[in-house]
Amino acid sequence: MRVRMHANPLALAYEAFRGERPALEPGRPVEVEIGCADAQFLFERAAQDPARHYVGVEIRRDLVDLVNRRARATGAPVHVVFCQAQLHLTEALPPASVDRVYVNFPDPWFKRRHHDRRMIDEALAAGIAEVTRPGADVFVQTDVWDLALDALETFERRDDVFANAAGAWSFWRGGNPFGARSWREQNAEETGLPIWRLLYRRA
Ligand SMILES: C[S@@+](CC[C@H](N)C(=O)[O-])C[C@H]1O[C@@H](n2cnc3c(N)ncnc32)[C@H](O)[C@@H]1O
Repeated sequence: MRVRMHANPLALAYEAFRGERPALEPGRPVEVEIGCADAQFLFERAAQDPARHYVGVEIRRDLVDLVNRRARATGAPVHVVFCQAQLHLTEALPPASVDRVYVNFPDPWFKRRHHDRRMIDEALAAGIAEVTRPGADVFVQTDVWDLALDALETFERRDDVFANAAGAWSFWRGGNPFGARSWREQNAEETGLPIWRLLYRRA
């Protein structure tokens, strides 16, 4: 199956939410990866701890369908929602329903001229604040220095909601503590790229 490389998040086609919301069982913890692509990370998490829900949020519809077919075929508790995350995260997920959010290697849009297409911005932080429970983890990783700085600034500006586990304005130096790797993370590690990480706790 041919999958598009990039989707422009500013396109009119994403203005309305048309995704299928996950069926979340009460009391079952929920982990969410925003921009999950092939959801390698979520499938690995699901294999480690199948008692949780693993929800991907992804703007490329063809990938959404592909991953959901794989989840159904394997019985993994993974469900991906077709969604422009900055606009519709709060439509995809109920308020205060999420225990952990991952943003792994957020965008292909790291050039300065594409700054307005970047995924981590005030709108996304506000959406994450709304869908997470108090005490939830928010974990971000990227191999692009500019994106790492942008993400740091975005979450530090909301220090009323997000407490930096590494200390204010600091990157997380404890590696990836969650025991699963996304495709981009695996690739960055295998090719020796630096990875900047952030870990916040929802106040
Ligand atoms: C560079 S890929 C990383 C995929 C995966 N997280 C990994 O680490 O391997 C970024 C993903 O985010 C998706 N994406 C970009 N902007 C988005 C947005 N506004 N809403 C939802 N998904 C988005 C892209 O389609 C792409 O699949």
